Amino acid sequence: MGKYKIAAIGGDGIGPEVVESGLKCLDAVAKYIGFELLVERFPWGSDYYRAHGQMMPQNALDILSGFDAIYFGAVGDNEIPDDVTLWGLRLVICQGLGLYANVRPAVMLPGVRSPLREELSNKINWVVVRENSEGEYAGVGGRSHRGFAEEIAIDASVFSRVGVERLQRFAFDLARTRSEKHLTCVTKSNAQRFGMVLWDEIFVQLAQEYPDVRTDKVLVDAATARMVLNPSSLDVIVASNLHGDILSDLAAALVGSLGIAASGNLDPSGNNPSMFEPVHGSAPDIVGAGIANPIAAIWSGAMMCAHLGEKAASSRLMAGLVEVAKANEVLTRDLGGAGSTEDVTKATIDALERDDLDLEGFNRIGS
Ligand code: NAI
Ligand code: MG
Repeated sequence: MGKYKIAAIGGDGIGPEVVESGLKCLDAVAKYIGFELLVERFPWGSDYYRAHGQMMPQNALDILSGFDAIYFGAVGDNEIPDDVTLWGLRLVICQGLGLYANVRPAVMLPGVRSPLREELSNKINWVVVRENSEGEYAGVGGRSHRGFAEEIAIDASVFSRVGVERLQRFAFDLARTRSEKHLTCVTKSNAQRFGMVLWDEIFVQLAQEYPDVRTDKVLVDAATARMVLNPSSLDVIVASNLHGDILSDLAAALVGSLGIAASGNLDPSGNNPSMFEPVHGSAPDIVGAGIANPIAAIWSGAMMCAHLGEKAASSRLMAGLVEVAKANEVLTRDLGGAGSTEDVTKATIDALERDDLDLEGFNRIGS
């Protein structure tokens, strides 16, 4: 029987609520399939910061290195600046553990309403592959003349050949496994003349190694319009850190809610534990109300199972989510329902424990 060590970091706001929901579903599917998740919870985040002056301990990366995967909620607090919370935990983990590929699927679940007309929305079956270690979020820059009229602030975008190539190669490899075999390069090389031009050049070079993958290129501003107006023209989308961040929130909104958008921060080499988390933040406006949508966290858990090699568990979790969405009886407020986090969790567990569950339910979407 497989045994996997999971580091669970709920973080702030609704983070712990959705992580606990996801862990219940993961526990249920592990029992059903027959493997074990050894979960250790870490109380890192803004309360930890208030007590210790840092979001997580100094040796956090060493601690995390001993796990097979990390399951994360969100950080973000009303009192502590967002750059302190995000850099103090999530970005340090992604950079420090080499989790350079951020994979964010956006798929239209049955029973969920999109703000788009149905004939457009039912075509959405995308994966945004976002660069996750450098680019606009490299953390390079500074400020001077603080408080004076001549004050300046600089954030430098960093694009290295190694960083761009490994990420784009990952996106090509992923595109190759999908039925559409189509990869769109998002860029802004008309305005950003250095990093984004390198980004485009590497894309063209790599495309020659992947003759079976259809490619095209789109400027990031045009990409937003295309996602809304012509969703079926996209399949896998590869984008820089900032562009991927923005486009994946748009993708989430188009498939119904940020509350269903899942992600994996991967070290494709497998040398370090990868981290799985919902795309959304700590949602301070609904914290404690019991209405946070746990689907994004559960879906992220399914991605974690697939990454650990537990493909049957991953399919079963996704099939369970499809059943819950399709039934449309317990969905949370962000999806137009009146259900609670607990209702969705329970319905998902009930569905995934059914022997007659339609395991292909998720794979059929969009095909
Ligand atoms: P947010 O994702 O927390 O919330 C945006 C809107 O979506 C809110 O109205 C919220 O109620 C709703 N929402 C988000 N997740 C939901 C869920 N699971 N179920 C139902 N509704 C949901 O983004 P926002 O408001 O921009 O940021 C709030 C805090 O979260 C900030 O401090 C920000 O820095 C942080 N943040 C952290 C992230 C992370 O840790 N990975 C990612 C994004 C934001
Ligand atoms: Mg974001």
